Amino acid sequence: MTDLVIQEEKIIERILTLELVRVTERAAVASARLRGRGDEKAADQAAVDAMRRELNRLPIAGTVVIGEGERDEAPMLFIGETLGTGTGPKVDIAVDPLEGTTLCAKDMPGSIAVMAMARSGSLLNAPDVYMEKIAIGPGYPAGVVDLDKSAEENVRALAKAKGVPPGEITVLILDRPRHEHLIAGVRKAGAAVRLITDGDVAGVIFTAQPETTGVDMYMGTGGAPEGVLAAGALRCVGGQMQGRLILDTEAKRERALKMGIKDPHKKYEMTELASGDVIVCATGVTDGALLKGVKFGADKIETETVIYRSVTGTVRRIQAEHRDFTKF
Ligand code: FBP
Repeated sequence: MTDLVIQEEKIIERILTLELVRVTERAAVASARLRGRGDEKAADQAAVDAMRRELNRLPIAGTVVIGEGERDEAPMLFIGETLGTGTGPKVDIAVDPLEGTTLCAKDMPGSIAVMAMARSGSLLNAPDVYMEKIAIGPGYPAGVVDLDKSAEENVRALAKAKGVPPGEITVLILDRPRHEHLIAGVRKAGAAVRLITDGDVAGVIFTAQPETTGVDMYMGTGGAPEGVLAAGALRCVGGQMQGRLILDTEAKRERALKMGIKDPHKKYEMTELASGDVIVCATGVTDGALLKGVKFGADKIETETVIYRSVTGTVRRIQAEHRDFTKF
């Protein structure tokens, strides 16, 4: 690639930062229409269709590297799907068109439409499996917590680094039976556990602002796409994160190998999950601590979106009022 082409692509990428707002806005509005209907699939599908439609309008040669299942599970945005007009920069795309499908279906707080984009080769290309994760906010020495340490050890290490007793640490964990040992370990160390029913992209992001959210650390196993999206956002606001794919069957290991993952037990650092200039964009579907949900009015639809750009550390919040209903 010539210098001129690289320069042009950088400019296009910068412009695209704001274009992604439309993508997650449309997905959020589409699924918000199905809030509280008890139909997770329909809400997810609505978000997928809207996201795909908008992404296909962008001047990119995009490939979904991490997202909802693989080709056989179409019509979801599947791993390997190509998106965009095909002209413009080659980019990796990570998607979770509706993060917190259950939250949306039950009209509970915290569901969002979220995606990330980065230059080709920057986002982890992995099958749609679980990922073990640990995350903390900014201001700590590197390696203060680690996936290979016990929950108790991590709480004690973080408390020491923060200069507080473990009793002043709060750890956010998804409320799942598989996390019983983690919850017990955190409590044994004297720290508090805040349980969430869903939505660990926001869960990880909450660690970046403990003074506002009250969350010092995120721990536990959730979706791999959510892990990559969260890593991209956390890179922007500062913090540390590690993730390890759960490749617990031969079939999963084989799928991962086909995607270039030779070591099934690899512990990924945040910058390996999402490297380079990563843009993460999220719009609220239902009201939540991270974002307000979509509001439908008689003459306008209101949305709130946050965009993170890792290369500059810029976080933009966009409150939009949409009056052209034909777009939604
Ligand atoms: P979905 O929107 O795909 O349902 O994801 C919601 C979520 O809570 C994620 O935030 C989390 O990573 C994952 O589910 C955990 O998976 P599971 O519900 O299978 O424990």
